[in-house]
Amino acid sequence: MQTPTPTDGTVVRFRDDARAEFQADRVVLTSPAGVVAMRQVGSGLGAALRRLADGPVDPAVLLSGLTGREAAQLRGFLDRAPHLLAWGVVAGGHEMLRLERTSPGTQYAPVTVAPAVRVRLSRFAFCRTREGALVLESPLARHRVLLVHPVARRLVAELGTPRTPTELAGDDLDVAAVGTLLGHLVGAGLVDAADSAGGFESEVDLTLRQWSFHDLLFHSRTRPGRYDDPIGGIYPHRGEIPPLPAVKEPPAGRTVELYRPELDEVLARDPAFTVALEGRRSIRSYGEEPLTLRQLGEFLYRVGRVRVLRGAEGDPTGNEIVGRPYPTGGSAYEIELYLTVRRCAGLDAGIWFYDSAAHRLVLVNDEPADQAAMLDIAAGATGGEADGDVLITLTSRFQRLSWKYAGIAYGMTLRHCGVVYQTMYLVATAMGLAPCGLGIGDADLTARVLRLDWLRETSVGDFLLGSRPAGELGTWRTEDGWQLLNGADWALRAGEELGLG
Ligand SMILES: Cc1cc2nc3c(=O)[nH]c(=O)nc-3n(C[C@H](O)[C@H](O)[C@H](O)COP(=O)(O)O)c2cc1C
Repeated sequence: MQTPTPTDGTVVRFRDDARAEFQADRVVLTSPAGVVAMRQVGSGLGAALRRLADGPVDPAVLLSGLTGREAAQLRGFLDRAPHLLAWGVVAGGHEMLRLERTSPGTQYAPVTVAPAVRVRLSRFAFCRTREGALVLESPLARHRVLLVHPVARRLVAELGTPRTPTELAGDDLDVAAVGTLLGHLVGAGLVDAADSAGGFESEVDLTLRQWSFHDLLFHSRTRPGRYDDPIGGIYPHRGEIPPLPAVKEPPAGRTVELYRPELDEVLARDPAFTVALEGRRSIRSYGEEPLTLRQLGEFLYRVGRVRVLRGAEGDPTGNEIVGRPYPTGGSAYEIELYLTVRRCAGLDAGIWFYDSAAHRLVLVNDEPADQAAMLDIAAGATGGEADGDVLITLTSRFQRLSWKYAGIAYGMTLRHCGVVYQTMYLVATAMGLAPCGLGIGDADLTARVLRLDWLRETSVGDFLLGSRPAGELGTWRTEDGWQLLNGADWALRAGEELGLG
């Protein structure tokens, strides 16, 4: 039904993704966020809800003609159901912006932007297409703004640099209407108004300055609370896309079988758990003799072999899962290990894939220049300090997680990366090797040299491993500014027991 265009001000309507079903004195409202059922809906309230379903309406018009009880019911509903409603801003006789609340919390308060005040898009705001509409969003804003009118789109496109309402006004919108629209965008947190010194909050605030655009967006979307897309283990692609196998099909190439340690032998040789935990250090120098293939086999066996597998038939979602020594969300085990070998007794230099089910290596690249490129970046990550025997690159088969988890898949793979790092640290420490996690690696280079599709499987972590150098490695010295707190003697004693000093 075509509804008359409201006069300038604020209007409200059901969101496009909300559905209202009217049954006698009951109204059932469904949206991606869930179902709300309203009971004992009188005829006046029922008409108001139908009006919301028909299109934008002035809230004052909506409330007029209702009994006191119905008006209170409606107000309560408007307050309680922000996820069902879109608030439109009408200026110059047209709906320009439509705001949808993306998280609970108070509705924003629009401000007034005076004609000479300079405004600019927040450093955190961005435009994108969402469900067929151009939307303006920001991790700082609790609303998504649909730019429903071309004039609003023009206005926002001008806000990459500071502008005033006077400069932005034109034939399509006068200066007061521009000030009103901008006031909503400022109030909602998508546009910054200049402060008295001419600065913009997203750039001058000391806390915000230390957030990068992508980090804050990622943070705002990886945990529930600030955004309204469904999040969690909801199987968004089940029934449409088959899940990836739990065990990656190994690439074709020369294989090398790896040593499989005996449990009793490892138990007899290992230091106590607390000695490994407390004595663990990042070691960036290496022994004269390199790591051996046997040690590499034991290390990979203890860190990352597949030790159990449950086929798709054993899972109600049809997803096969495996188990390895370290934990992962949903037993996804999407992390794969690739080894760039510089020196390892018994193994050729090259870039190898670790086949975690067969416990063997598969050669993926024997080009010396590619090995050197990978090892150079790793050494650079340690400030040029470390030339490890082996660089272990952790890749993620992303779709293994995103098939099941909406919104949290990438965050989860980074968590898994940390889990693998610590497992590697502890096993390497127990084995008397030199471990060091790295924070930097080139994902694009890695995809190329590992022969991977960047969108399907890319590096998310890097770890240097090597033989441990002889002698003591030093400890925390007070002259270097270290204070020993809270049982530092545990670490010192464990270090001594491991021969680290
Ligand atoms: C996620 C992560 C990233 C790291 N990145 C680097 C790195 O890029 N270069 C480096 O030399 N050490 C790196 N390290 C090692 C840390 O510098 C080290 O753990 C820290 O200084 C504490 O010393 P410790 O490991 O000897 O206890 C990293 C460690 C972790 C867990």
